[in-house]
Amino acid sequence: MPPLGAAARDLFLLQPGAAFLNHGSFGATPAPVRAAQQAWRDTVETQPDVFFRETIWTATRASAARLGRLMGAPGESLVFLPNLTEAVAVVLDAMRFAPGDEIVLLDVAYAAVRKAAELTAARTGAGLRTIPTALQMTDAAYAEGLRAALSPRTRLVILDHIVSPTAQLIPVETLVPIARAAGAKVFVDGAHALGQLPLGVAALGADWYASNAHKWLFAPRGCCLLYSAPEVEDATRPVIVSHYNADPYPRRFDYVGTRDVTAYLAAADAADFVERYGLAALTAHRAALIALADAALRDRGAGLVTPHAPALAAWTLPQSRPARPDDGPALMRALWYEAGVQVAASSAGGRLLLRLSFQLYNDEADIARLVAALDRLSWPGR
Ligand SMILES: Cc1ncc(COP(=O)(O)O)c(C=O)c1O
Repeated sequence: MPPLGAAARDLFLLQPGAAFLNHGSFGATPAPVRAAQQAWRDTVETQPDVFFRETIWTATRASAARLGRLMGAPGESLVFLPNLTEAVAVVLDAMRFAPGDEIVLLDVAYAAVRKAAELTAARTGAGLRTIPTALQMTDAAYAEGLRAALSPRTRLVILDHIVSPTAQLIPVETLVPIARAAGAKVFVDGAHALGQLPLGVAALGADWYASNAHKWLFAPRGCCLLYSAPEVEDATRPVIVSHYNADPYPRRFDYVGTRDVTAYLAAADAADFVERYGLAALTAHRAALIALADAALRDRGAGLVTPHAPALAAWTLPQSRPARPDDGPALMRALWYEAGVQVAASSAGGRLLLRLSFQLYNDEADIARLVAALDRLSWPGR
């Protein structure tokens, strides 16, 4: 078994002497993956013509096939994009909305995704409906919320698989069939899923599923995979028009102007890195840390949001007043600049949310350091 906890920190360039409990936001790339990306960059530099005229096609498809094993989807159903934000743009563009159409999404949908949906709705005359959620939800409550938001005009349902600020795990296996049965197309935003959850994307039945590889899979930044079901492949096109836009899916995504695609290619090495540990071993390590953190935070009056993702969890912190929008950023800055602890924090509905990521390089010492810092610095509105 490769190293876990503090022994694994040397694989990363993360600033020494600090506790990093926010892998989920921007990821971190281990040495073997950084080396693989550099090797690809050197290959490009050695013979750019051969790379961009020949190698890019075969290497991109080989990497997609490798990642397909983790996504649970054939490589030919997967295309690379720089990030989830662009995947959303591709899906919204593929929908060709008309006035009166409706888009349904969760009230906790990722803010940038909501903005993209709002702009598309404003441009096309489509409407937006929201599924309300709470910090403790059952599968049945999610299903009821979705059913209430659906109408004969619903054309697209956007579901987060793991909610960003709250770390909630959404029961997409229950919700996708409900949306499909109502005649809507479904896009699952699995930004945090790949490398955290076992995935069977093709069997899930969604029209599109996207996951970043640069978060929990350890790929270099700028690497997202978009799955398209066979029925929507034809409509699914890059939002930037390039030479190959009229080529069939997935080929039209494999070359979209001259750009650095080395993150896409090194993502295959990231898959190897994760598989050397095995997802089960990673999950066990991370779950043990969530339990430790929960025990310590509960002692301080915090409440765990459930059901949560396997390696990402959020707690509401007790407040003497309703949390304000700037309380989350203030807590993050205090913990980093005064205690060397990186977390994610936000406020929602008057509650201050502390979100922690538990990665293979974390251990009990990181949690002890966080808890000591919270005791010393407290938090806004405590
Ligand atoms: C649920 C969700 N959707 C979308 C995104 C956007 O991802 P990216 O910044 O890679 O575009 C994130 C990023 O954290 C996310 O958590």
